[in-house]
Amino acid sequence: MSKYILSFDQGTTSSRAIVFNKQGEVVSVAQKEFTQFFPEPGWVEHDANEIWYTQLGVAAEAVVKAGLSTQDIAAIGITNQRETTVVWDRATHQPIHKAIVWQDRRTASYCDELKRQGHAEDIQKRTGLIPDAYFSATKVKWILDNVEGAREKANRGELCFGTVDAWLLFKLTNGKVHATDVTNASRTMLYNINSLQWDEAMLKLFDIPAAILPEVRSSSEIYGYTDQVLTGTNIPISGIAGDQQAALFGQMCTQPGMVKNTYGTGCFMLMNTGTQPILSKNNLLTTIAWKIGETTTYALEGGVFIAGAVVQWLRDGLGIIKTSGEVEKLAASVEDNGGVYFVPSFAGLGAPYWNQHARGTMMGITRGTTAAHIARASIESIAFQTMDVLQAMNADASIPIKQIRVDGGATVNDLLMQFQSDMLECSVVRPKITETTAAGAAYLAGLAIGLWKDLAEIEQYWKEERTFEPSIETTKRQKQILKWHTAVKAAQVWGEL
Ligand code: G3P
Repeated sequence: MSKYILSFDQGTTSSRAIVFNKQGEVVSVAQKEFTQFFPEPGWVEHDANEIWYTQLGVAAEAVVKAGLSTQDIAAIGITNQRETTVVWDRATHQPIHKAIVWQDRRTASYCDELKRQGHAEDIQKRTGLIPDAYFSATKVKWILDNVEGAREKANRGELCFGTVDAWLLFKLTNGKVHATDVTNASRTMLYNINSLQWDEAMLKLFDIPAAILPEVRSSSEIYGYTDQVLTGTNIPISGIAGDQQAALFGQMCTQPGMVKNTYGTGCFMLMNTGTQPILSKNNLLTTIAWKIGETTTYALEGGVFIAGAVVQWLRDGLGIIKTSGEVEKLAASVEDNGGVYFVPSFAGLGAPYWNQHARGTMMGITRGTTAAHIARASIESIAFQTMDVLQAMNADASIPIKQIRVDGGATVNDLLMQFQSDMLECSVVRPKITETTAAGAAYLAGLAIGLWKDLAEIEQYWKEERTFEPSIETTKRQKQILKWHTAVKAAQVWGEL
């Protein structure tokens, strides 16, 4: 059998493809950014065809870079930006509208209305989610309500809805398979995470015809094969998971209580909670971590919308650094934040606040404040936001969290990692291989075709690179947290004015 897995990592800003060998090592990587469309303030769209072309292009590039041919690829795993919504024509394979991205807020006031009408509790019980524009349901509804003739076509079964995984699977199989996996389904706000079925009541609430929905499958099985015209051979597609769930798997957080935090544009913390869904009392999401065979594993999740994006803002908005990499040096050039606290709630606050109206707020500025203090406060804001999510998670979980595994671009920043550990009062563990998202999808795909026989075989590939331990005085920590929370309050009050 060929011994390589090709992982598709279709993210919010770029399409990536990574080839892994049987030892779980990265053999090659290819990446291509694609266009972000902002047609109105708060709206974010992607061209689903561009997603497809860039993803196919980087896949071919990664295979060539690895010195391989498609015959050497034993299977493909897909991991993807979640919630982003594509609706396409079943016959022509053409999207009927641009994909509405998870960050898009066009349905925010409709979601506020749902909360006012008292739907929040029922939605949470069924889907594990909090009514928010973030999830797919209101985006699908928007497309059906706003694209001429779409609703009639949908009712006749002529349209397909899918998150990006389903779109790529449909294209790879040349329209033969319209399916998604449980992790992606669990982000739509249409899927019942208890019965593992599309939820009739949610479909009714959002007025979405069942005829457009993909079939929901496990996270590790053969969904279909690539069309020969595309790849010259039929490669099985055998692993699918949303990117944050794939990262949880790639970090080998396979036991209940294990936690990972991914530092990307945003920050997403997930805790494995075992085979039973735990409904959060602290504004976290309950989501499906993966389904392998007949066993479904659940997770609690807290997402911070602006993390690495704050560094981009320092570069592109404020102009105090030229490259993102410069931020650590600038922040480290001062001893501390000089009393500056910055809440980068540019587009509202995610977990655990879920305040769509909060706005970015900087407090504690004096004549002595420099760009370095602002850089430091920006880095610290990533850690403080993560701390708020972890505190909510601790309140929901029965056992306090002692350790988190971290991945994503910002984890190279030692200053941030140390401050993170100080604020969380727990160990922060950075693994040797930080391509955990793509690795997770590769493992799911490889398990399904027997490249790896079981989890135990894969677990040996996860290795620690460095652990950061808390080293701050308690009173100093508490004072900083008090100031942070005061700034968070101000950011929310400001949004209400
Ligand atoms: O829920 C959104 C998340 O899946 C996006 O992840 O890495 O594409 O920004 P990323």
